[in-house]
Amino acid sequence: MPRDNDLHLTDEEQAMLAGEAGPAVRKAMEIVTALAKIYGARHLVPVESAQVAGVSYKNLGDAGLQFLQEWADEGARVRVPAFLNPAGMDLQRWRELGIPEEFARFQMAVIAAFTRMGIAPSLTCTPYYVGLRPALGSHVAWSESSAVSFANSVLGARTNREGGPSALAAAIAGRTGAYGLHLDENRRATHIIEVRASVRSTADIGALGALAGELVRDGVPYFRGLDLRWTRRPEEALKALGAAMAASGAVGLYHVEGITPEAGLSDILPAGIPRFTIHDLSAGYQKLNGPLEEVDLVSLGCPHASLEELDEIARFLAGKQVRTRLWITTARQVREEAERAGIVAQIEAAGGQVVADTCVIVAPMELLSVRSLATNSAKAALYARSHSGLETRFGTTEQCLEAALTGRWR
Ligand code: F3S
Repeated sequence: MPRDNDLHLTDEEQAMLAGEAGPAVRKAMEIVTALAKIYGARHLVPVESAQVAGVSYKNLGDAGLQFLQEWADEGARVRVPAFLNPAGMDLQRWRELGIPEEFARFQMAVIAAFTRMGIAPSLTCTPYYVGLRPALGSHVAWSESSAVSFANSVLGARTNREGGPSALAAAIAGRTGAYGLHLDENRRATHIIEVRASVRSTADIGALGALAGELVRDGVPYFRGLDLRWTRRPEEALKALGAAMAASGAVGLYHVEGITPEAGLSDILPAGIPRFTIHDLSAGYQKLNGPLEEVDLVSLGCPHASLEELDEIARFLAGKQVRTRLWITTARQVREEAERAGIVAQIEAAGGQVVADTCVIVAPMELLSVRSLATNSAKAALYARSHSGLETRFGTTEQCLEAALTGRWR
């Protein structure tokens, strides 16, 4: 176990920690260096961006809001581009969604505190759809678990699964500890997952991720035999795979043979690591499906939907009318692109809602009289039960949209 004094700080970092750059920076450095020591880092590493979770007032409560306001009052300002995870509501259309006034007031106060610190209220877990795609090998401090997985695995950037406060501290300090997934040795695979099951849809890949995450927990799985030629948009499949494993386990990085950027590195696959074979996905589907028949809400867009996903949904709904509530959650910027392309109007004509800035997991669903939910996202299905006590159905996008049209799961 490294000793405390094994952490080497530069002169500038020592001055920041001593308070020479003000109390807000000192607090950030205290958090960053405390974590660096706990995890045995030898030095800090500059980060290029931060993605800060812990934005919904539902999760923060009054204590979290006060913490943010005090830090902003102390003069906290981010040093690197920083982006927010989804909040508890659509900042513009919260009334339409049925969000109570009081919740909205507190949520806006949270956003105001972050904005004072210089953080962009992008309010999305898919910052890579709104212009933030860190380069291969770059160091970042991201905190939403599916975004972390995407940044590490699909883009080959380097981030630990930061907590909300630690990502914020990294943004204010401009650095984080060089430990965990920032280091080459921790990016090697810890398990091989042989995929023998047929994977032909985003739901299949979510079910696969639900199983794999449970098997490897916080390990680094290396997938063999995972063929993504069934989709024209493999990044969306990888987004779903990472989100599922981050929820059923605590996977922050995975490799897919022949597909993800680090999978081909010579030392990525150590000899003798455990190997699992997944022959079929039915156990994954079972885990994500309850006996529910009547559906209150159909939720698509976890992680937040791409423009292409929105377009596909709009095409499916053309000339039809939904019976249940239908939310498709996405980044505000993507919603605006979809508005310009006429996609939002098509979905709304069918009775659906394209909801920005939030999702069904961080929004206060208990205040919106929603008890049951159908989704194409393994992560949403897992978290809707554990975080919001909802009954869930899980399946393909088409099955979910059929449920929205009929009000029943078939
Ligand atoms: Fe994103 Fe919410 Fe799902 S933050 S990954 S849409 S649970």
